[in-house]
Amino acid sequence: MPSYPYVLLSAAVSLDGYLDDTGPDRLLLSGPADFDRVDEVRASVDGILVGAGTIRADNPRLLVNSAERRAARTAQGKPAYPLKITVSASGELDPAANFWHTGGEKVVYTTEKGARRLRERPVAADVVALGDELDWRALLTHLREVRGVERLMVEGGGTVHTQLLRQGLADELQLVLAPLFVGDPRAPRLFGPGGYQGGRLRLVETRRIEDVVLTRYEPTAPGTGVLPAAADRHWLALACDLAAECPPSSTAFSVGAVVVAADGTELARGHSREAGDPVVHAEEAALAKIAPGDPRLAGATVYSSLEPCTHRASRPTPCARLILAAGVRRVVTAWREPDTFVADADGSGMLAGAGVDVLVLPEYAARAAAPNAHLAL
Ligand SMILES: NC(=O)c1ccc[n+]([C@@H]2O[C@H](COP(=O)([O-])OP(=O)(O)OC[C@H]3O[C@@H](n4cnc5c(N)ncnc54)[C@H](OP(=O)(O)O)[C@@H]3O)[C@@H](O)[C@H]2O)c1
Ligand SMILES: [Zn+2]
Repeated sequence: MPSYPYVLLSAAVSLDGYLDDTGPDRLLLSGPADFDRVDEVRASVDGILVGAGTIRADNPRLLVNSAERRAARTAQGKPAYPLKITVSASGELDPAANFWHTGGEKVVYTTEKGARRLRERPVAADVVALGDELDWRALLTHLREVRGVERLMVEGGGTVHTQLLRQGLADELQLVLAPLFVGDPRAPRLFGPGGYQGGRLRLVETRRIEDVVLTRYEPTAPGTGVLPAAADRHWLALACDLAAECPPSSTAFSVGAVVVAADGTELARGHSREAGDPVVHAEEAALAKIAPGDPRLAGATVYSSLEPCTHRASRPTPCARLILAAGVRRVVTAWREPDTFVADADGSGMLAGAGVDVLVLPEYAARAAAPNAHLAL
């Protein structure tokens, strides 16, 4: 199971949605207070990524400018500056750009062709070729597993932001809206046209900073495939939080569950023993709140902190069967059922055998198990 860093997209846009104008200099969209906020975010991450287009257009340094923030990083045993990362298919990178000559370590992710070009005209950075095409999941896995990046800030440009958001790989979007118009259709846009998965993002914060507004969003549409996308992590974390709300029991697990439609709409949530029912299970409680035959169930995902049960003493139908009967085809869970109450429980295997797409995210297992600590597992 590959793991990715937490991916935070950061950008400033004009009121008409442009990242820059077409003039030779970089358009200043925000002011000193917001630049200082960006500096603070940079100081909080392990890596900062920009596309090669941004290096060519803006020649940025991407530093932590505050000496105090750098000192605080070093005191925590981190490098003074986050790793700087760029992506380029062509390998056409100017060796004299500021990017290579300021800050700490640098890495370029590129293609085999780009790597050949970079051998002809090297830059002061590690070069990682990821094959004929650059796959974002491979890049993020490499950043996390080889370079140790747990928190990644992406500072553009639009091409990069658009791909990460479309592929469900962004955990957070920090967008600054600047009170001016660019008005030039040739200028670069933040997000390009085309298909975006899912529906509305979740607004988590708005903040006025001088004359700009910072808005923070979390994408919430479930991922499409076998890999943990940001939305899967968001909803599974919620299921784990719901597990902590269960009335305690010494004879059953505390479990939380959320049912989410393909467009990111929450259909229902539930937890064990909710609403005074001493034996109800989380998935059962959530599914009971959705009308049978609701057409959204076929595209929905059930997020459950513990894998759905296959045997239970309290009621005839185990949750894995209820999920199949509801027509749900995708389940994401954190924790495989221990042998506490039932030997050889294998809800994930049973569902997968019935054609359900089952994803287990073991990095949430400790969070799912925490409300069950008294069961002496
Ligand atoms: N306002 C803001 O917050 C902000 C922030 C950043 C940038 N900007 C502006 O954004 C503009 C640049 O944006 P942009 O969209 O042109 O450039 P970009 O996203 O920075 O970089 C695009 C380049 O990155 C490489 N790349 C992207 N995806 C790739 C993939 N999947 N595989 C391989 N390589 C990939 C390619 O490099 P190669 O061409 O080398 O193959 C591609 O041309 C500039 O005008 C800049 O001022 C604004
Ligand atoms: Zn159950």
